[in-house]
Amino acid sequence: MNLSNLQVQTDQRIMRITIDRPNSLNALNAKTLEELGGVLDQAASDNEVRVLIITGAGDKAFVAGADITEIKAVDENSVAPFVQRGHDTMMKIQNLGKPVIAAINGYALGGGCELALACTLRIGSENALLGLPEISLGIIPGFGGTQRLARITGIGRGLEMMLSGKPINAEKALNWGLLNQVVPQEQLLETAEQLAAQLARSAPIAMRAILNAVHQGVDLPLEDGLAIEKDAFVEICGTEDMREGTSAFLEKRKASFKGR
Ligand code: COA
Repeated sequence: MNLSNLQVQTDQRIMRITIDRPNSLNALNAKTLEELGGVLDQAASDNEVRVLIITGAGDKAFVAGADITEIKAVDENSVAPFVQRGHDTMMKIQNLGKPVIAAINGYALGGGCELALACTLRIGSENALLGLPEISLGIIPGFGGTQRLARITGIGRGLEMMLSGKPINAEKALNWGLLNQVVPQEQLLETAEQLAAQLARSAPIAMRAILNAVHQGVDLPLEDGLAIEKDAFVEICGTEDMREGTSAFLEKRKASFKGR
C-alpha cells in the first residue's frame, strides 16, 4: 500500500501507525482518513497483528483535528460523505476486534480527540491537551465526539468540553477517565509499546470477545448485554486457548496462546 500521510510499522505482532502530516499538526484530511481505513482493513485481516498503536508525528501534536481547509470548502449539500467517512473510520477502530492504543503526544483536538475516543485505551504525554473546539469554528464535532465523549466522561463533563470548546490538560483528562495513563513525553512510546507487548501475549479470541461484548452491550438493557456475554463465554469455552490458559495456571507455567 502506497501511503503518503501515514507511517506504518509492524513488529512483534504490534502495528504502529503514525499520522504523519506535521506541517498541519497531523490534521486528518480525506486522504489521511482513506489511508487509515485501508491500513485498518489490513490490520483486521492479518492474524499476526494483535495490537495497534496510533500516534502523531513530531512532539507537538497527536492530531489537531479534521483538516479545517477541507471543512471550509464544504456546505450542507456536500458535507455528508465527509462526516460518513469519519464515522466509518472511527467505527473500524472500535470494531476491529483488537485493542488499539492511542499514544497522545500533544494536541488531540476535534477529530484528533475523536480518533482517540474511538481507540480502546489512551495514554497521554504530560503535555497532552484534549478537546472538542468545534464550537469555536461554528460547527459541532462530526467524527463521533458528540456520542463517544459523554459515554466516557459522563454527560456533564462531556457537555462542558463541547460547549466551552476549551481543551483539558492531561491531568484533568486522567481524572475524568479520558486518559488511562499519563507519562512524560519521552516515555510515551515506550510505555505504549510495553502495554501493547503485554496485550499481544494475551489470548486474542478472548480479547476480541471482551471488546465485542462491551461495545455491543453498553447501550443495551443489562439482560440483553448479559445474553451477549453468555453466548461469547460459551463460544470461548470451545477454544484451544481456553484449554491452554486453564491448564497453564494449574501447571504453574506461563500460557502460550495460539489464537485458536
Ligand atoms: N486543520 C488544518 N490545518 C491545521 C489544523 C487543522 N485542524 N491545525 C493546525 N493546522 C495548521 C495551521 O494552520 C498551521 O499551518 P501554517 O503553518 O501553514 O500556518 C500549522 O498547522 C501549525 O499550526 P499553528 O496554529 O501555527 O500552531 P500553534 O502552535 O500556534 O497552535 C493549535 C496549535 C493546535 C492550538 C492550533 O493549530 C489550532 O487551534 N488548530 C485547530 C484546532 C481545531 O480547531 N481543531 C478542530 C478542527 S474541526
